[in-house]
Amino acid sequence: MIEKNLIIENINKDLQTVKNMPDFQIVKAKYLGKKGEIKELMKNMTNLSIEEKKVFGQKVNELKNEVEEILNTKLNEMLEEEKKNAELKQWIDITLPSTKKIVGKEHLISSTMKEICEIFVNLGFTAVEGNEIENSWFNFDALNTPKWHPARDMQDTFYIESEDEKLLRTHTSNVQIRTMMGNEPPIAVVSAGRVYRKDEMDATHLPVFHQVEVLFVDKNVSVAHLKMSLEAFAKQYFGDEVEILLRPSFFPFVEPGFEVDISCIFCGGKGCNVCKNTGWIEILGAGLVHPNVLENVNYNSEKWQGFAFGIGVERVAMLKHNLKDMREFVKNDVRFIEK
Ligand code: FA5
Repeated sequence: MIEKNLIIENINKDLQTVKNMPDFQIVKAKYLGKKGEIKELMKNMTNLSIEEKKVFGQKVNELKNEVEEILNTKLNEMLEEEKKNAELKQWIDITLPSTKKIVGKEHLISSTMKEICEIFVNLGFTAVEGNEIENSWFNFDALNTPKWHPARDMQDTFYIESEDEKLLRTHTSNVQIRTMMGNEPPIAVVSAGRVYRKDEMDATHLPVFHQVEVLFVDKNVSVAHLKMSLEAFAKQYFGDEVEILLRPSFFPFVEPGFEVDISCIFCGGKGCNVCKNTGWIEILGAGLVHPNVLENVNYNSEKWQGFAFGIGVERVAMLKHNLKDMREFVKNDVRFIEK
């Protein structure tokens, strides 16, 4: 006797308690496993006649098929549910505010160098590269800076080899020599890059900083040409209202030499704590190329004259962007770099 309805009722009851795959496997084994209820029913067949076996076997088979169908239906339901849950986990809420993407940005020093070079390229100057590792002759001697000059002091210069050999350039003026030695005048070049000095790091000094060098060589060049170029730069970089002031100064490689100031961009020249109440802020060194420098590169100084200047990139960027401490440029603080 097979109590088919009771078995079906039980299996449905058991399946109601199933919460996960292991639960399901237990129920499946209970009915279809090696020691499951269907197999147990089969064992009862041994004492039956052949005719009875046929009828009984058919009924057990029918029951087995029905049980399998019920279990398969349950299994499919569970797999469907699992798929739905997985999809839900992957679901993207497009109404949420997007997360902020962190993207790279050009450093202010790089963009400032480009900006300055562009001003001069638009005036007809050619942008050239310079050597950072330099022979001392190009950095000093050819620039009329004899051995006794304080700039050659071991404290100012990073030497790579002995004092007379290789060093890290202390200014971009080495580009003047390399350009003049490789070319005939007239010359109009601009060159931006890194320079090195044994300076203590503070709010207005770095041991590794940047300069933009400008060199112009032609016939009959005078301070008027220098002043015009400086004025063009100052007005384009800082704004039309800015004035420039040339104060006599000394650099061995120029004669006459100047420190160049701009009218204070913070107070408009009236006097404030940034310009120390003078109304002026120093931004660069400049002058007419010294005849000795021209002769050092085999130019006839009677025939050719030139002007040159070296802009401190960090200094002008700080003024334009109202930054108080030069160390911000090298701190790698994302809040500063992101600006
Ligand atoms: C020179 O380096 C000359 N080669 C400039 C020059 C070129 C004069 C051509 C004449 C003709 P100076 O040492 O003053 O000059 O440096 C130029 C600028 O670099 C300074 O005005 C300043 O803005 C910047 N500077 C100098 N030292 C540092 C430093 N340690 N950190 C950051 N900026 C500096």
